[in-house]
Amino acid sequence: MNPVTASAPGKLMLFGEHAVVYDHPCLVTAADLRIYVTFTPTDTSTVTVHSSTTPQPYTFDLADVAQPTQNYPASIAFVMAAVAQIAQQHPLPHGFELTTMGPPLSYGLGSSSAATVATVKGLAELLGLSLTDQELFHLAYQAVLNVQKKASGFDLAAAIYGGTTYFWTGGKRIEPLKVPQLPIVVGYSGSKVGTVSLVQEVYRLYQTLPWAIAPIFQLSEQIVEQARHCLLAGEWELLGKLMNIGQGLADSLGVNSWQLSRLIFAAREAGALGAKLSGAGGGDCMFALVTDQSRQPVEEAIEAAGGQLVKLPLNGEGVRLER
Ligand code: MEV
Repeated sequence: MNPVTASAPGKLMLFGEHAVVYDHPCLVTAADLRIYVTFTPTDTSTVTVHSSTTPQPYTFDLADVAQPTQNYPASIAFVMAAVAQIAQQHPLPHGFELTTMGPPLSYGLGSSSAATVATVKGLAELLGLSLTDQELFHLAYQAVLNVQKKASGFDLAAAIYGGTTYFWTGGKRIEPLKVPQLPIVVGYSGSKVGTVSLVQEVYRLYQTLPWAIAPIFQLSEQIVEQARHCLLAGEWELLGKLMNIGQGLADSLGVNSWQLSRLIFAAREAGALGAKLSGAGGGDCMFALVTDQSRQPVEEAIEAAGGQLVKLPLNGEGVRLER
């Protein structure tokens, strides 16, 4: 049997972070930072996972892969949770080597979700199973929940469907949007805080002050609805204002950071129509909405403020098999 390779993109969360965990919508675009997962069939009864982010491969007995334990580095845990989702329904007939490859730095733009989706897609192909995008989403979502406990799944939708997507918690609604262009500059703050711990912090804040946090989530939903309209209509000035309000909400949730703020204010002062953080916060990336005239000054301002420009095609292609 021939090797099979599947690849999937990362994501840039545009609007609705954190609120999307609590039954509200968000907007996300696929960032073309692809993770490749290759399956090479073997005549052994083991699965060996090679990842560029772990010093040595991890080997599992075929008899154990349907029930993986949790104590592995993230790059192994997510792919094995994805393998388990398929193996629980379709016993694996033979072993394989599984190799993940991606860029050395993922800027917090969704390498785990991309690896999970590419693993489900590739393994289904290896076993001759055909999955709809919806089935793929639900298998990948279950895998992520098994590793991470609390997650909305928005990043899996970006990895599967590509482009720009309107998404509702747990994939209740996934609507690909026809957004012709995204005049966006992305800056990396240089540091990373784990998504899981930030999601837990927001959860604790929500438990402590529900009367304050519930209206923030509600407002986030209204911003997402309006931003969706602006994206489709190309109403950039208004979209920029919504980004700034969204940033204020993220600040109120306690997930902003000093360095993100520096990059965001630098971008605004250099002429961005709006700027906000992307994703869980605490570090990782911010993005700014620019015009043709302001693109260069905004890029320079982000760099001068200590940010690293992340030049990735957005609105990229979703999961695919590599021929
Ligand atoms: C993390 O990138 C975005 C969060 O909304 C978590 C999630 O949606 O799973 C904070």
